[in-house]
Amino acid sequence: MPLIAPSILSADYGRLTQEIEAMEAAGADWIHIDIMDGHFVPNLTFGPWMVELAKKKTSLPLDVHLMVTDPVTYGPVFARAGADYVSVHAEAAPHLHRVLCSIKEAGAKAGLALNPLTHPCFLEQALDLLDLVVLMGVNPGWPGQDFIPQTLTKTAQVASLLSGLKPDRPIFLEIDGGVTDLSAPALVRAGATVLVSGSYLFRSPDYSLAIACLRRAGR
Ligand code: DX5
Ligand code: ZN
Repeated sequence: MPLIAPSILSADYGRLTQEIEAMEAAGADWIHIDIMDGHFVPNLTFGPWMVELAKKKTSLPLDVHLMVTDPVTYGPVFARAGADYVSVHAEAAPHLHRVLCSIKEAGAKAGLALNPLTHPCFLEQALDLLDLVVLMGVNPGWPGQDFIPQTLTKTAQVASLLSGLKPDRPIFLEIDGGVTDLSAPALVRAGATVLVSGSYLFRSPDYSLAIACLRRAGR
């Protein structure tokens, strides 16, 4: 069964801490926190304070997705703020080895995110340093966009790449963007092990039911 990671980008910001607590009570496995810098993507969201706040409110792992042009600076900053996973975009990280090492040295697990049309060959050289692969199902920047179908083929390709690795260290395969009850089943059958969902979960009148629905996907 996939792990379910609600993205607080779609939460009610007037009740942010209650929303995090409600998702934990409803059965979420991780909390996904989207960091946007207004450069890598046009939108702006949270600073490291958001991670510090979430850390005080939940015991769930915090999955921080950096959509920033300067992951060299911000990767370790968010790791030190309390992130359990920090993912950087391959498209933003010319010094990928340095970035992934610095995230680990700062105490977090390291992830690599790929935009919808970025080739998965980026992953192969980085696998030894990765704990998480994030495949974007939408162009990053906003919640509530339609799932881009090419991501399904890429999910199967990457799942096959990961299944050939030694089983001593799991690397999660996360899909982020456009994940709903409609897109989730095929993604899980293709090998996704973590589903991020923002608008589908937070717009649902019953968080427990919506999480259970995603978790049952692919069975
Ligand atoms: C998109 C973000 C996603 C977003 C997903 O740039 O990285 O985490 O919150 O939202 P939905 O699930 O609504 O596509
Ligand atoms: Zn995200």
